[in-house]
Amino acid sequence: MSFKCVRVERDGELALIVAHNPPVNTITADVRAGLTMALRQIEADRSLRGVVLLCEGSTFFSGADIGEFSGPPREVEYRQLFNAIEALDVPVVAAMHGTVMGGGLEIALACHYRIAAPATKFALPEVTLGIIPGAGGTQRLPRLIGAEKALDLILSAKPVTAQQAVEIGFLDTTVDGDLRGAALKFARELLAAGRGPRRTGAMTVDPATATEAMFEHMKERARKSYPNRGAGLVAVDAVRKASRSDLAEGLEYETARVNECKLTDESRGAVHVFFAERDSRRVPGLPDDAQAKPVRAAGVIGAGTMGGGIAICFANAGIPVMLVDANAAGLERGLAGIERTFQSMVERGRLTPAEKTRRLGLIGTSLDYESLRDADVIIEAVFEDLALKQRIFAKLDEVAKPGAVLATNTSTLDIALVADATHRPGDVIGMHFFSPANVMPLLEVVRTDRTSPATIKTVMELAKPLRKTPVLARVCYGFIGNRMMEGYAREAERMVLEGATPRQVDGALEEWGMAMGILAVFDMAGIDVGINVHRANASRYPPDPTYYQADFALGDAGRLGQKTGKGYYRYEAGSRARFDDPEAIEILRRRARELQVPQREHSITEIQERCLFPLLNEGFHVLGEGIATRAADIDVVWTSGYGFPRYRGGPMFYAETIGLATLLDGMRRYAQMFGPMHWTPAPLLVELVGRGIGIAEWERERQAERARA
Ligand SMILES: NC(=O)c1ccc[n+]([C@@H]2O[C@H](COP(=O)([O-])OP(=O)(O)OC[C@H]3O[C@@H](n4cnc5c(N)ncnc54)[C@H](O)[C@@H]3O)[C@@H](O)[C@H]2O)c1
Repeated sequence: MSFKCVRVERDGELALIVAHNPPVNTITADVRAGLTMALRQIEADRSLRGVVLLCEGSTFFSGADIGEFSGPPREVEYRQLFNAIEALDVPVVAAMHGTVMGGGLEIALACHYRIAAPATKFALPEVTLGIIPGAGGTQRLPRLIGAEKALDLILSAKPVTAQQAVEIGFLDTTVDGDLRGAALKFARELLAAGRGPRRTGAMTVDPATATEAMFEHMKERARKSYPNRGAGLVAVDAVRKASRSDLAEGLEYETARVNECKLTDESRGAVHVFFAERDSRRVPGLPDDAQAKPVRAAGVIGAGTMGGGIAICFANAGIPVMLVDANAAGLERGLAGIERTFQSMVERGRLTPAEKTRRLGLIGTSLDYESLRDADVIIEAVFEDLALKQRIFAKLDEVAKPGAVLATNTSTLDIALVADATHRPGDVIGMHFFSPANVMPLLEVVRTDRTSPATIKTVMELAKPLRKTPVLARVCYGFIGNRMMEGYAREAERMVLEGATPRQVDGALEEWGMAMGILAVFDMAGIDVGINVHRANASRYPPDPTYYQADFALGDAGRLGQKTGKGYYRYEAGSRARFDDPEAIEILRRRARELQVPQREHSITEIQERCLFPLLNEGFHVLGEGIATRAADIDVVWTSGYGFPRYRGGPMFYAETIGLATLLDGMRRYAQMFGPMHWTPAPLLVELVGRGIGIAEWERERQAERARA
């Protein structure tokens, strides 16, 4: 029998249920229907003595269909299906490989025995999506391995290896070689030993692992690991329930709680970001006949901080890359940095020494632009200087092969002016990596009005092997991310002039959920880096004498951040721990007196609003002006590049969570307090509130307009 993506095969007295739902065997509605049909067939066949469940392709079931989260609840369907597997009266063996997550692991827990290929990984990542394992995971796992270990796995949300799974106790064994053959052999050995079904649901949770003290401890851990969030706490409740009731009652409880979770902002935000990231590569409106070009060889110009990191990305992707610098010392420094990065990966067990050698072998170095002749993509990462970049692009125009993508990593310059230096502006594009380039997932892809669709597609596709999350932007100062940073940083700096301490400001932002307070970020990046940007852009800054003056005050005193041991905070040698520093506060007070900035108290709410409202408001400028293609792209930029909490869904999603009218009122309230210069609401925000519509509706209208045009 075959039912779409699930089929039943016979091997003597055994049946195999084989699922095939590429690319990652998601448990979609079709898979569930197929499994249900397969079970019916197996139940009806009295000659069968055992069942093996396995998947074809890259992995065993990788998880539930997250796309169904927003639809009607499916837990009852999952529960009936998994219960039916568990109820079979012949032994059922799950034979796993690949990455088995969430629902994939839960279906295996409903089988009677579990074996896996040695490289298999397992995880229950649900709490990071604001939910709990809701297909029996919170009820069956503690029955198998005890409440404490189950919660450890659920709250860590991190993958464990097959070997660890055996030690933890939810995997019977690992098997080498052909998984199907090994599974059949394993099942026959069970039969020979007279072993029948071993139902997880019939077990009870070991009470020694399920004390009230342990649950309290896990709640504390959930509060710490997931501040501002509830799913971890719900998981503790659900596992506690497993230890206090039978399976049927526990499953009912789990269903009720997971469905509550799905309605929280925490879950809606995290799921939104999950899909926004998946979709950011898709660019609407590009002609179908524009094709991405293959990238077999790359070039990077400038072997500094960024160039070195970018070269590592190519080597990691297995793409040969030629690194060019203006001088031998620069190349040597760059290569030494790359070597160090690979070496630290070896030391952390992330890379074998042989793989390090292979990757280093993919990176060539040269002082001569001629060596870039074969490159399909060339990324320039030299000093931030327009005239220099224009000279380099004029040179590239001479040496690069026809059709090669010519990219710049500029953070602030007008890429259209860089393109003007060539006779092939269609091939010129921005590839804005974030530091460290080999670590940070975000890649802003910046198109000019003349960048060709094929160039855009090539770079959006290239992001995949480079392991980057690409977001398309149009040219403007700061593109999407840094442009929205401006108001956020401005208010943080202004408040330390008004008398708030750096710790108060950063503390309020971190409490809200930012990965790191912005002033601590400046200390890490170097205060001089910010000052250089402020100087270079002074002409476009608004007429506000206090603008970024906190940076200047500290910079004038030689406090350049972590690298000098002092900035907004004080640091001790070899450590990144921040200490409050009265000296920094005194410097800021002095500058405030000189600028006659009135001193005041700041509540946590004021700090959060004054930083966040301008950030969100700028998002509406970016969207309204068409700098970003979609609001969701803005959310990806900030969650993957700037430490904005995923569980708040990104700035645009968050604006809708608090309500666009609340944001607009907030902007107007602060405009009354501080004047309109920095507090004028974006036209799109005013329009949406005036018309009483949300972002999605506006985007649909705009799409329809484009389709008509
Ligand atoms: N550092 C960051 O956090 C960051 C983040 C995003 C983008 N950027 C942008 O990336 C670019 C590079 O920044 P960086 O921090 O890596 O700079 P860097 O100073 O670390 O490195 C620049 C390198 O370019 C080399 N160089 C200078 N002129 C050259 C020429 N004519 N030909 C070849 N090589 C030349 C220098 O020798 C040096 O090795 C800048 O445009 C910057 O704005 C930087």
